[in-house]
Amino acid sequence: MSDQASRLRNLVEEQAEEDARAREIGELYFDVAEDTRVIAVTSGKGGVGKTCLAVNLAVALQLSGQRVMLIDADIGMANVNLLMGSVTNRSLIDLLNDEVELQDVVEDGVEGVKYISGVAAIEAALNLNRNEQRKLHKKLGRCSELANIIIIDTGAGLNRNVIEFILASEEVLLITTPEPTALADAYAVIKAYSTYTERRNIKLVVNRIHEEEECEDVAEKINQTTKKFLGLSVDCLGYIYEDKAVLDAVHRQEPFIIANEKSPASRCVTELAKSLLSGERMNSVSRGWRGFLDRLFGY
Ligand SMILES: Nc1ncnc2c1ncn2[C@@H]1O[C@H](COP(=O)(O)OP(=O)(O)OP(=O)(O)O)[C@@H](O)[C@H]1O
Ligand SMILES: [Mg+2]
Repeated sequence: MSDQASRLRNLVEEQAEEDARAREIGELYFDVAEDTRVIAVTSGKGGVGKTCLAVNLAVALQLSGQRVMLIDADIGMANVNLLMGSVTNRSLIDLLNDEVELQDVVEDGVEGVKYISGVAAIEAALNLNRNEQRKLHKKLGRCSELANIIIIDTGAGLNRNVIEFILASEEVLLITTPEPTALADAYAVIKAYSTYTERRNIKLVVNRIHEEEECEDVAEKINQTTKKFLGLSVDCLGYIYEDKAVLDAVHRQEPFIIANEKSPASRCVTELAKSLLSGERMNSVSRGWRGFLDRLFGY
């Protein structure tokens, strides 16, 4: 065996021993089945409505009796903050500080939705050393005590962070508008995703449509391409109408589902929440939030 190969093998063995020790002293979680649903909201093209969907869906689910947590994992923009009506002082990365506990970074948002700002932290989190990762993994593990549905607003596109998040998530909502460029970018996400995993847990949400048929049309166009080039198809969870109430609510820094609960967009999001709750979970192998963290941190 070459020197390099044996060094690598030693490293892997050392890491396995270290992880086993950490499990014994309760620093690392064992793989446990648990019920917390982890749903990532993502898109290929930017600006298609991820944050609006993530925030309003979180509120809709909370209003229907779920305990929801929203994590803003979009590195570029802190807009979940704005829509939830307050500004966080702390983010995920502060958990590395020994004095900071999970409850210190969790904010109470609209209707009691819990949220964590991850802005600028996630990128750093993926480059942490093993000890720091372990600390974050352990403290974040307790999120599942606070919520039974965790929604993650990811950034757009195909950068490493977004891919890591959607690969780790049990369920993925891929949002697109009917514009051809948004469709092409949505296809690119499905393609990238399918090269990394066999799991089929992406559902489409078509935003800014003017009539119901547009949604079917978009799903058909995407599926024609995915079937032809990737040999798979993607289900559509639902749609959201183009609605002036969305922009009005953004200006008022309020979720539209609260500002104007009868607006077409609000009714659509309520339907999406119902479909999520009544339909089958997109992935049968559920390991909940801790499964998500294990995958994200590579355990
Ligand atoms: N259904 C809709 N009807 C009307 N306007 C909408 C709708 N959905 C989104 N918008 C508009 O699009 C804007 C962008 O939405 P949002 O911030 O949710 O996109 P995003 O995908 O999170 O963007 P980014 O990629 O920058 O994070 C909103 O501020 C709103 O003005
Ligand atoms: Mg956004």
